[in-house]
Amino acid sequence: SVYADQKAASLAVAARIAALIRGKQALGQQTVLGLATGVTPIGVYAELIRLHKEEGLSFKDVITFNLDEYYPMKPDAAQSYVTFMNENLFDHIDIDKNLVHIPDGTLEQEDVAAFCLDYERQLSELGGLDLQLLGIGRTGHIGFNEPGSAPNSGTRLVTLDDLTRRDASRDFGGKQNVPTKAITMGVGTIFKAREIILMAWSAKKASIIRKAVEGEISGDVPATFLQLSDHVEFVLDEGAASGL
Ligand code: GLP
Repeated sequence: SVYADQKAASLAVAARIAALIRGKQALGQQTVLGLATGVTPIGVYAELIRLHKEEGLSFKDVITFNLDEYYPMKPDAAQSYVTFMNENLFDHIDIDKNLVHIPDGTLEQEDVAAFCLDYERQLSELGGLDLQLLGIGRTGHIGFNEPGSAPNSGTRLVTLDDLTRRDASRDFGGKQNVPTKAITMGVGTIFKAREIILMAWSAKKASIIRKAVEGEISGDVPATFLQLSDHVEFVLDEGAASGL
C-alpha cells in the first residue's frame, strides 16, 4: 500500500500491530513480534508508545525478537540496537524485558553459531513470528542480509557491505568505526513469519524499492526474495513508491 506520507503509513502499521496484540490478548495468547531498527520504524514505535500511554495498549504478553545487531557491539553503546530499541520503544511501554530478544554483540566468535541456533530454536518453540517489521537498506538488505544471502538462510554472523557501512558512518563518527560484521536473522527466518511488513519512506529509497518489487529475484538484492512470499506487504510513502 502507498500512503500520502510517512506519518499516515506509520499510524496504519501501528494500528495493525495493536489490533494483532489485542486480538491475541482476547484469546489469552502471547504475540511474537519481529522488530527492526533504523530510522524507518521510529514513527511506528512512537505511535505504539502513544497507544500504550493514551489508549491502554499493553505489551505485557508481547515477546519480541529483533532482526539484527552489529558485531561486535556492547549493549550499552550509543549505536547498539539494544540502546536504539530501549530509547525508541521498550523504555516507554510495559514490556517484560525478559521477553525481549536482540542478537548478542558481546559473544566470543566461537560462541556465535550456538547463539544463532538458539535464537532460531526459541522462535520455533514459540510457534514462530506473528509479524515481522522490516526496513530496507540501499544494498537491498533486509535485516543485515546483504547481497549474496541465500533465500533459506538462518540467523548467522555476516559481513557488512561497504555501502551499508558508509550509510551507518554518521552514527559512528566515521566509516572506520562501523563494525565490519553483524548477527542477523536470515532470509529464511524472516520468511517464516506469518505476516511481513516492509516499510520504506522517501525518494531516497525509490530505486531500491523498484528493484525489490519489480526486479529479477536474486541474491544480489535480497529483498527481491520477498516477491516469493504471499504474506508480504510493502508499506510505502509516495516518495518511496515513485519508481513503481
Ligand atoms: C540497517 C538495519 C536494517 C534497516 C536498514 C535501513 O542496516 N540493519 O534493518 O532496514 O538499516 O535503515 P533506515 O531505516 O535507517 O533507512
